[in-house]
Amino acid sequence: MINLNLNIDKVLDFVSFNEIESFQPEIDKHFKTLFNKTGKGKNFLGWINLPSEIDKNLIKDIESDAKKMREIADVFVVIGIGGSYLGARAVIEALSHNFNNLLETGKNPLILFAGQNIGEDYLADLLDILDKKDYAITVISKSGTTTEPAIAFRIIKNHLENKYGKQEAKNRIIAITDKEKGALKELSEKEGYKTYIVPDDVGGRYSVLTPVGLLPIAVAGFDIKKLITGAFEMLQLNEATSSMGKNPVALYAATRNALYNKGKTTEIMVNYQPTLFYLTEWWKQLYGESEGKENKGIFPAGVSFTTDLHSMGQYIQEGLRNIFETVLSVKNSKRDLRIPEDKKNLDKLNYLAGEKINYVNKMAETGTMLAHVDGDVPNIRITIPKIDEENLGQLIYFFEMACAVSGYILGVNPFNQPGVEAYKKNMFALLGKPGFEKETNEILKKVN
Ligand code: PA5
Repeated sequence: MINLNLNIDKVLDFVSFNEIESFQPEIDKHFKTLFNKTGKGKNFLGWINLPSEIDKNLIKDIESDAKKMREIADVFVVIGIGGSYLGARAVIEALSHNFNNLLETGKNPLILFAGQNIGEDYLADLLDILDKKDYAITVISKSGTTTEPAIAFRIIKNHLENKYGKQEAKNRIIAITDKEKGALKELSEKEGYKTYIVPDDVGGRYSVLTPVGLLPIAVAGFDIKKLITGAFEMLQLNEATSSMGKNPVALYAATRNALYNKGKTTEIMVNYQPTLFYLTEWWKQLYGESEGKENKGIFPAGVSFTTDLHSMGQYIQEGLRNIFETVLSVKNSKRDLRIPEDKKNLDKLNYLAGEKINYVNKMAETGTMLAHVDGDVPNIRITIPKIDEENLGQLIYFFEMACAVSGYILGVNPFNQPGVEAYKKNMFALLGKPGFEKETNEILKKVN
């Protein structure tokens, strides 16, 4: 059953339903192109059938390795960047206790991340923690050549070998990479690490339902089968229909493109639950890297409310009117906490006594939506009943499919990322990487 609901009532003052509906023929065409794998980036459409085609033995293998890791490690370090860590982090944080790192239940290993930055202090601080904890790691890189995770892996691998000895260190390393190419593949083979494959036809930002996301999520203690079930339910709906009246993917893709055509060039993903912060980060990568090319694309931004209402709220209410919001609304909280009665009522909160905190959050959400719409910020609302594996699975597939369709509407290839190479070329030239001698000479003229 599809639990996800999409509401576009609060955009209709800005674009008419007819304008949104006019995308239907195009959307039908793009659905066909995607499922037939005949369009731009057609070699990177492996994600589209993943939820129905995922091998049961692979799931068993992942679950069994996750169990092993959970037995031997209090901390599990996920080394990767971009699509090689954001999906896992999004799901793990959405499902975790807000203060997981301070909980001492001993049930779930603490998942920490590395290789997603080049912060010297970050890595050195991480080693301080790893000195004191029993830990294991996974290193994830599809290309197997990305600098940030390669540096982090070299440092943590040394630490691990010094701490446990070379032989035991091998039991504590799982590599996830390409099936045949890249430095990580070669290294893993030479060292004899357990290895999982990132399928050739699945790009990083679409890889959360491969071992890239599934292994860390399983190690964290969450049910990867339910996550896949959720994605499968959304896949089934998308196989069945591309009609906007029946499929929220089609409606979301059409609505955001209709708004873009009206000059609403920034989409702000709004959450009201702190655990959804990384889901927004994952969404930002998915949409930013897929659509932002050929001088086109909606700029994906994110805010966490009500926190950011006390900072970014001012801009959203009264700044440049080129924005729209997509609110990710979660109906029910996991916990039940109510505002207590206070005899003195000095804080004047007794009018809320007995109410759930979630009720106050919901009123803030509705009030904010109305205020922002009054301030000329159209609002799309996506509602899920609660944060759990199945709903997250639906949401992930929903956003992936809508992103692919949106990219095709825009006329770009949503599955490549040529723009991310420019900084790498300059960095390698500045670092004097072998093979970049010509670029080094050129760039030094610019910086001196
Ligand atoms: O979506 C993408 O393709 C990128 O974000 C990559 O995932 C990211 O650059 C990491 O690449 P790799 O897994 O090859 O190290």
